[in-house]
This record gives sequence, structure tokens and C-alpha cells, in this order.
Amino acid sequence: MSEHMDHNEERASKEVSRREMSRRQFLTYTLGGTTAFLAAGVTLPMVRFAVDPILKPKPEANFVKVVEESKVTDQPKSFEFVSHQVDGWYESDPTQKVWIVRKDNEIFALNPTCKHLGCQVEWNGNADYKDQYYCPCHGAHYTIDGKQLAVADAPLDEYEIKVENGFVYVGKLHANTKVK
Ligand code: FES
Repeated sequence: MSEHMDHNEERASKEVSRREMSRRQFLTYTLGGTTAFLAAGVTLPMVRFAVDPILKPKPEANFVKVVEESKVTDQPKSFEFVSHQVDGWYESDPTQKVWIVRKDNEIFALNPTCKHLGCQVEWNGNADYKDQYYCPCHGAHYTIDGKQLAVADAPLDEYEIKVENGFVYVGKLHANTKVK
């Protein structure tokens, strides 16, 4: 009789233990799931906000009207234009400078930023380097196509351009395609 009772008690105790285990697991899963859900609800919008500019499609390259085609000659001339720029959340409309020239009946545009340390080059800026771009900071000089001849180790960058209805438009800046 006593042995039978022991056996029953033992079984009851195992069932209780199984039930407690199950309740604990249930609580663990419920709390874990709720916590994960709440955490996702808080962090996902933050992540989305942080990477939002990356997710947005990039706008088409905008061309900006700079000068009448007839004013472009075989001597590089400097012009200014305003371009709209978007960098993440920061938008600006800086005034930029461009050197535009016609050579072999082709118009092209160079960025005046020296490839040495970023000063501004000038066409015929030094009498010793006639018909060249010259940088006053450390003496870099470049050919009319923007090829570096001294100090700098890369050619001047080039702007995309298009000619439409008698006007020259300047687009995106990219590495020089005319020279290496
Ligand atoms: S920045 Fe132009 S030569 Fe140094």
C-alpha cells in the first residue's frame, strides 16, 4: 500500500515538474517574443531613418546651363554655375567654377581643382608655363586637356557636357577621359 502511494506521489511530482517546466518555457517564449517585437518596433524605424537617403533612388544627373556655345573658343575660359547638390539629408546650391574650351571642334569642360592638394588652377596663370593651367600653391601645371605635367599625379577632372539649342550645359564631374 505504502509502496503504491510512493509510486503515485512520484508520478504526480513528475507531472507537476513537467507542467512547471512547460509554464516556464511558455513565459520565456512569450516574454522573449514580446521583447523582440517591441525592440523591432523601436529600432526598425530608426534604422530606416538612418539609411533613408541610401534607399531613395538617385535623381538623374542634372545638367546646368552655363554659357552660349558661341562664346566658347580655343582658349579656355572660366565660367561659374550653380548646381543643386544632395548629400544624405544635406542639400546645398554651391557656386562652382568650370573651364570650357573648344578643341578640334569639340567642346569640353574641366574642373579647376588641382589634383595635388585642391587649390584652383588658372589658365596661363604663370608666364613660364604658357598655354597651360597653372596652380599657384605648389606649381603644378597641366596641358589644355588637363594632363598633369608636374607636382600633381592625376589629370584635372572633367565635367559631362551637352550642347543644346546653342547653349553649353555642364553635368556630373568624373575622371578625365581625354588623358591618363
Ligand atoms: S595644390 Fe596645386 S600644386 Fe599643390
